[in-house]
Amino acid sequence: MSAAQAELASIARAVADPQRPLASLIGEMDRLRRVAERHCALPMQASDRMTDGESFLDSGWAISPVQAALCAREPLRSAAFTRGLLQAVTQRLRADRPVRVLYAGSGPFALLALPLMALLSEQQVQLCILEVHAHTLGYARALIGELGYAGHVSDYICADAAAYRIPADGMPDVIISETMNTALGKEPQVAIMRNLHVQAPSAALLPAAVTVHLGLPRRTPEDVCGEWGTVFALTAQTIAAWEEGGLPAGEGSRLPGARLRVPAKLEQAPRLLTRIRVHGDVVLGDYDCSLNLPLPLPGKPALTGGEVLDFTYMLGREPGLACRIV
Ligand SMILES: C[S@@+](CC[C@H](N)C(=O)[O-])C[C@H]1O[C@@H](n2cnc3c(N)ncnc32)[C@H](O)[C@@H]1O
Repeated sequence: MSAAQAELASIARAVADPQRPLASLIGEMDRLRRVAERHCALPMQASDRMTDGESFLDSGWAISPVQAALCAREPLRSAAFTRGLLQAVTQRLRADRPVRVLYAGSGPFALLALPLMALLSEQQVQLCILEVHAHTLGYARALIGELGYAGHVSDYICADAAAYRIPADGMPDVIISETMNTALGKEPQVAIMRNLHVQAPSAALLPAAVTVHLGLPRRTPEDVCGEWGTVFALTAQTIAAWEEGGLPAGEGSRLPGARLRVPAKLEQAPRLLTRIRVHGDVVLGDYDCSLNLPLPLPGKPALTGGEVLDFTYMLGREPGLACRIV
């Protein structure tokens, strides 16, 4: 076992340890990031512009390799996703074949899968790594090879995960994608999860639930956010309901959100709160990472109190929630 593999295995054991709260894994997540940065050929410092290599797809913004690599600097996010993935795969281990994981939007580090590859053998788990940017995928492939885990990956596929057709003989047991932004805006998480879940409905979906709530930011770090209801939810159940409702999936299509009344007395402008249940009881709550920061309402409507707000999720090149006062 190489030094990097030993380091990753020790990180993975900590991630898998149910006695370790997510917040206690910050040190291990920093070590994970360092291993990835040290062994990846991506020149983080040499890049002139962070956005070099980003693109705007029919389903939303696909961030650049450097921006994707910077996600590794959010320790709680990495801890929640790596733990959720380890749990989901471990729960599905089987004797007759490896558990198949489809990782959509790997970034240059395939970071969320590194502890998994360190803890489980290639007979236990096989990954299909899907990434829309060829150069980002190339970095991930080289990194995985360099770390000695090439045997854990069945396929590297350069494709748009919001349009990708899964081959009938390669249906995954677990689908993971972290292609999102606050309040499910800008990036194609909704379109990707929908496209993949519809094709592989029995696969575990990670994150299992992303919910957006109407509420208020906390006033102090000890405070909790106020909440008045769920605006929109991305789960296996809501995806199935969109399909049953015959809602179209392409550019310009809309998905239903909630209609909610704001309190009669408003002391602060309402915010959208994004909460993520990665898998089981592994969650990212308010303020845990950048994805969970309270966001002003779309269009920043002037509200005095008592208004009824009607929310809709817009699919397309600039996906996200829209709201209107009824
Ligand atoms: C937030 S980064 C993922 C980082 C990775 N989850 C991690 O934590 O290291 C999102 C990645 O998904 C890719 N991506 C975005 N939209 C995509 C799409 N429609 N199909 C495939 N990949 C996509 C981006 O190019 C980017 O590399």
